[in-house]
Amino acid sequence: MKLLFRGKFGEGEVPAPRARDMPLLGFLIRIVFIFLHVLPGIQSWGKEGHYITCKIAEGLLSGEAAAAVKSLLPEYANGDLAAVCSWPDEVSHRAHWRWSSPLHYVDTPDFRCNYDYCRDCHDSSKNINRCVAGAIYNYSAQLSTYQNPNFTGQYNLTEALLFLSHFFGDIHQPLHCGFLGDAGGNAIIVHWYRRKSNLHHVWDTMIIESALKKYNMDVSMMVESIWTNILEDWADYVPSWESCGVNQTVCPNWYAAESISLACKFAYKNASPGTTLGDDYFFTRLPHVRKRLAQGGVRLAATLNRIFPGVYSPLHPLAGTYPECSSTSACDRENLSTC
Ligand SMILES: *[C@@H]1O[C@H](CO)[C@@H](O)[C@H](O)[C@H]1NC(C)=O
Ligand SMILES: *[C@@H]1O[C@H](CO)[C@@H](O)[C@H](O)[C@H]1NC(C)=O
Ligand SMILES: *[C@@H]1O[C@H](CO)[C@@H](O)[C@H](O)[C@H]1NC(C)=O
Ligand SMILES: *[C@@H]1O[C@H](CO)[C@@H](O)[C@H](O)[C@H]1NC(C)=O
Ligand SMILES: *[C@@H]1O[C@H](CO)[C@@H](O)[C@H](O)[C@H]1NC(C)=O
Ligand SMILES: [Zn+2]
Repeated sequence: MKLLFRGKFGEGEVPAPRARDMPLLGFLIRIVFIFLHVLPGIQSWGKEGHYITCKIAEGLLSGEAAAAVKSLLPEYANGDLAAVCSWPDEVSHRAHWRWSSPLHYVDTPDFRCNYDYCRDCHDSSKNINRCVAGAIYNYSAQLSTYQNPNFTGQYNLTEALLFLSHFFGDIHQPLHCGFLGDAGGNAIIVHWYRRKSNLHHVWDTMIIESALKKYNMDVSMMVESIWTNILEDWADYVPSWESCGVNQTVCPNWYAAESISLACKFAYKNASPGTTLGDDYFFTRLPHVRKRLAQGGVRLAATLNRIFPGVYSPLHPLAGTYPECSSTSACDRENLSTC
């Protein structure tokens, strides 16, 4: 669910044909065209996970939240939140937005398989709150100023909505809360069936891609199928997915803790560098991917329903929206060498 690769492990790009290849141009264009349809991961793929999460959320918004979302969406979204949920990935490589790239993930200590906001939620320069969980606090606090005249113009709430919706997807992707040492699986080179890839990309994109083949590459059919799970198989759990603590509007730390636990149990497991991942891995991991997409959507909607409009606003004033971390608290919890 992240198009931006933190390391140097990005996908190769299809080279543009040069002018002197002109006689071959038509042929090349056709080859490229065919490849774009056959090979996963070359172009805009990777958007699918975010699209699915946001599409599920859209179906669960209250009337008030749906109206607020609609009023904040950029015009080109045509009223569809899901259409713009990948926007933060699309811009994060641009100089103007580069500050936002650490906000897509959180790194956890190698092989610990746990998460602690005060220990882990920082960027590589140790600036606290600069991780996906901190960003979720940030942008939900900003959105809670919607229609509050005391804050008019202080925040760009369109950006806040797109960031928040996107980061709900990211924080549910187990490897967005993976180990620091392998950059959340980006540094673990594997084969996905016959294609060279990395473990992070497998979880961002490849598993969903392979699943989509069953639906003739029609994302809306996969959304439908996940809806059926939500309404039937997972119906008993949905209320617990939706709830935060008493009086809490957002609870990203739960999601991050679940993610690193899933990363250890399912993503990293049997996926050491050089492994070829195929049917065994795909069929056992796909149910978890589907469930994470569903949880991300259900929780995004529940959160937006709490934020919009007004009802909860007095309970989460802007100050103090990040969890408090005293300078020693991380050291109290765990004696890390970095303390
Ligand atoms: C909070 O949002 C503002 C506005 O987009 C941004 O400048 C800042 O870096 C964000 N911080 C975090 C931790 O998300
Ligand atoms: C705006 O600020 C004033 C002064 O602090 C406060 O009394 C009022 O309740 C605020 N309005 C809203 C809608 O929060
Ligand atoms: C808010 O952000 C969006 C997306 O970056 C931008 O298109 C829009 O112009 C911004 N609005 C304001 C009032 O700055
Ligand atoms: C939740 O909020 C209500 C209303 O402000 C308050 O009376 C109650 O004590 C709060 N509960 C907790 C656990 O903070
Ligand atoms: C913390 O340090 C103490 C003493 O150096 C050691 O016994 C303990 O195992 C450490 N705890 C953790 C969680 O590493
Ligand atoms: Zn992302």
